[in-house]
Amino acid sequence: MTTVHASAPGKFVILGEHAVVYGKPAIALAMDMRFSMRAHINDDFKINGAPANSYNMSPHMRYISELHGNTPISIYIEERIPSGSGLGSSAALSNAYSAAVRMLKHLPTDKESIAREAFQAEFNAQGRGSPMDTSASAQGGGIALNVPYKDEDFLWRIEKGDRAWDISKIDVPKMTFVIGNTGVKAPTGPLVEKVRKYKDSNTFARGIVDEIGTVTLEGMDAIKKNDRVKLGSLMTYDHKLLSILGVSCPQLNKLVEAALPYSYGAKLTGSGGGGCMVALTDKPEKVAEAISLHGGTPYIVKSGAPGVQVEVKTKHKH
Ligand code: MEV
Repeated sequence: MTTVHASAPGKFVILGEHAVVYGKPAIALAMDMRFSMRAHINDDFKINGAPANSYNMSPHMRYISELHGNTPISIYIEERIPSGSGLGSSAALSNAYSAAVRMLKHLPTDKESIAREAFQAEFNAQGRGSPMDTSASAQGGGIALNVPYKDEDFLWRIEKGDRAWDISKIDVPKMTFVIGNTGVKAPTGPLVEKVRKYKDSNTFARGIVDEIGTVTLEGMDAIKKNDRVKLGSLMTYDHKLLSILGVSCPQLNKLVEAALPYSYGAKLTGSGGGGCMVALTDKPEKVAEAISLHGGTPYIVKSGAPGVQVEVKTKHKH
């Protein structure tokens, strides 16, 4: 029996969430919080020793299993990422699960194949959405979507209907971010749907989505120049734009306000409605303290977390 170990990181978005769903630019970083698990082929699907059912087996896992002929697999989850927090927990799970199944079935486990499969799983489970979370988690480090790139930085292009995303890797200079979790759970699907409805029915909302794209391109330039003052102010402005789109909430606004006196800038990150905010800062302890004092859970982030990883752990006879 072969047991494999697979893991994938969560992510946070520096600029561009929601607008990226419509093919606008976005910038995301993998973070050093991982989903990890062991897996082996078994007689039945099991999760942490219990039979798999609709409560413990996510639609993402079911979709990936079906793609690979429904071979029953037992998994043991070792680390999790808080779900409904905008940190890409379902993307990390999909990547790790895809990597494990592929390795057990002797299929290629390159990042691109996994990123594509995980995006299909997310798309199937969430309706709309972009390949940002799944590609950031598969690749690791930092990625940009739909921004001008050098040939050697191009990773892959993902298309869905009339939308397309060109994904490239980016070098993010050493910057410190603090994530603040409101503790309010808000799944991505309904928030993406809310923005879609607003955008489809309102010219003003379409203008805001375009503006987020413009701000993200300026942010890309600021990252290249290591201009934290500029990047921070763009992040704070992006938070205002996202608030107009209706995806902030009082708890997020409170944590953003609390972080700003010690930060270059701060904004919600991910789908919003709750979940997390992120601040760019040189004073991470001060920001973390301010977030705690205002009821959030802080997390100081180092950039450069590795992407999806999978390896054979044990190989023994039945
Ligand atoms: C969620 O992390 C980011 C969104 O832009 C949705 C997506 O890109 O799929 C809100």
